[in-house]
Amino acid sequence: MSTETPAGRAIRVRSRRDLRTGRRRRAHSCWDHLIAAPLWPLHGANLGTLLRTCDAVGACLAVPRWPWVPEALRRGNTLRTGGCVHWVNDPCRWLADRRDDGTRILGIELAEDAVRLADLPMARGRTVLVLGHEQTGIPPEALDLLNEVVEIPMIGTGASLNVAVAGSLVLYKLAGMA
Ligand SMILES: C[S@@+](CC[C@H](N)C(=O)[O-])C[C@H]1O[C@@H](n2cnc3c(N)ncnc32)[C@H](O)[C@@H]1O
Repeated sequence: MSTETPAGRAIRVRSRRDLRTGRRRRAHSCWDHLIAAPLWPLHGANLGTLLRTCDAVGACLAVPRWPWVPEALRRGNTLRTGGCVHWVNDPCRWLADRRDDGTRILGIELAEDAVRLADLPMARGRTVLVLGHEQTGIPPEALDLLNEVVEIPMIGTGASLNVAVAGSLVLYKLAGMA
């Protein structure tokens, strides 16, 4: 389907076939460069949404090894092939270990003195992006492990964004694709 722009040029929406030929045939391997970490999830649907964004930007997803999480990921994964998932036994221990090995631990949270999304540069080194629980945010013991925090400014009436939306916006920025 095409429609005319004000400049008179027709916009042609890419077909499924065009999109398929422009995409990878298999999921990218673990690049271990950018890792989205919803380590205290409440809603399985958000994990599937985040996995899809991770695939789009070449990131990995780190999730807790909780009994319901594998099934939630299976159900929520609408990709043709897997996606890179790291399983985490103890979220705070895992974050502390990543921090010790020199990984930047960036929280995404509504927090005082946070960097605003527009000022966040592309990730230049290995970065873990920590996302909070849907109701209670990032737990205090994990806040202590963060190197930095980024906040997405809001001017509406809602207190916060959906966690998968917030994570996706920041992942695009960190990947240098937005
Ligand atoms: C629904 S929010 C929880 C909000 C809040 N911290 C609380 O305790 O009520 C769930 C998570 O989404 C992310 N989030 C949502 N909106 C955000 C925003 N505007 N800026 C940064 N992070 C956001 C954060 O990771 C947050 O922990």
